Amino acid sequence: MTASTRPDLDSIPAYVPGRNHPGAVKLASNETTFGPLPAAAKAIAEAAELANRYPDNLALELRAALAEFLGVAQDNVAVGCGSVALCQELVQITCDAPTDEVLFAWRSFEAYPIVTKVGNATAVQVPLTPDHVHDLDALAAAVTERTKLIFVCNPNNPTGTAVGKAELTRFLDTVPKRVLIVLDEAYFEYLRLAEEDYPNGIELGRTRPNVVVLRTFSKAYGLAGLRAGYAVGDPAVITALTKVHIPFSVNRVAQAAAIASLEARHELLDRTHALVLERDRVRDALLAAGYQVPPSEANFVWLPLGARSVEFGEASAEAGVLVRPYGGDGVRITTGDPHENDLFLSFATDPAVLERFSI
Ligand SMILES: Cc1ncc(COP(=O)(O)O)c(C=O)c1O
Repeated sequence: MTASTRPDLDSIPAYVPGRNHPGAVKLASNETTFGPLPAAAKAIAEAAELANRYPDNLALELRAALAEFLGVAQDNVAVGCGSVALCQELVQITCDAPTDEVLFAWRSFEAYPIVTKVGNATAVQVPLTPDHVHDLDALAAAVTERTKLIFVCNPNNPTGTAVGKAELTRFLDTVPKRVLIVLDEAYFEYLRLAEEDYPNGIELGRTRPNVVVLRTFSKAYGLAGLRAGYAVGDPAVITALTKVHIPFSVNRVAQAAAIASLEARHELLDRTHALVLERDRVRDALLAAGYQVPPSEANFVWLPLGARSVEFGEASAEAGVLVRPYGGDGVRITTGDPHENDLFLSFATDPAVLERFSI
């Protein structure tokens, strides 16, 4: 660390992405197992031909396509180098002093404490309920006059649980309008709650200038490697995001692939039906074996194994399946292809494993 860097950078938690091991099945990063659709692959190849030219910094074509798809105006949409970049930019546009507070549930998306610290603000974490669900009443009660931003991850990463429309609406009504609420819907496409309970942040935020919704092309749209996410919100918030946006950080290939994938969304979203069935199959098998598994509305399941989590993750890796342990809380298992899920299940339901981990 040189004298000119911030001394507090040392206290920023490390981002620990899912490991890659040649030959191992990777169920550690909530990725899609399918490669890009032919139309997206073509758009990627064509865009790569123009790699000598800067991309459109305003991403006008992509934002127009998103605005049309979502039924909002173009000035309601910002794009980012993945929605994780937008998380960081949202801290940048709301916090300007170390006493400023960013509130979020814990456990939740591991980037929230990191982007808060990078933004030189203070993270305030509110425990999930014993059922691993957002405790929205506790979150609302934790708001102080220093609170600038609240992240609500719905469905929640890594527990997979979701809060419904009525509960979310009540929460949005309770929080003071000066606080920006970010509904992080990275896993929105895997939600299968009943229609009357469907927590579509874009609908709920439409008339609320202090609500921003984040979605991504990394999950159901299968473009994690290209980095494109988007925010939907009030034009004032979107304009502020464009001020702090790293110029050209959503590259030409990502923009082209996102547009092509949005056009092919029916085909992509059809795949989520199969994935949801697989997710439920994996959960049922784990429940039957004696594990506790909260209901999941995302493309993964959560095993709250507490202190046994890291050892379980290591044992799974030794059995050829990489999963993601989270400290002393639990293990997240991404839903992959059926044969990959079977490999995980044969490990997790092995009588010796059940005995070793006291399931
Ligand atoms: C809840 C949540 N939000 C945002 C992201 C960021 O996704 P990306 O930056 O790939 O768009 C992730 C990725 O895992 C996530 O789980």
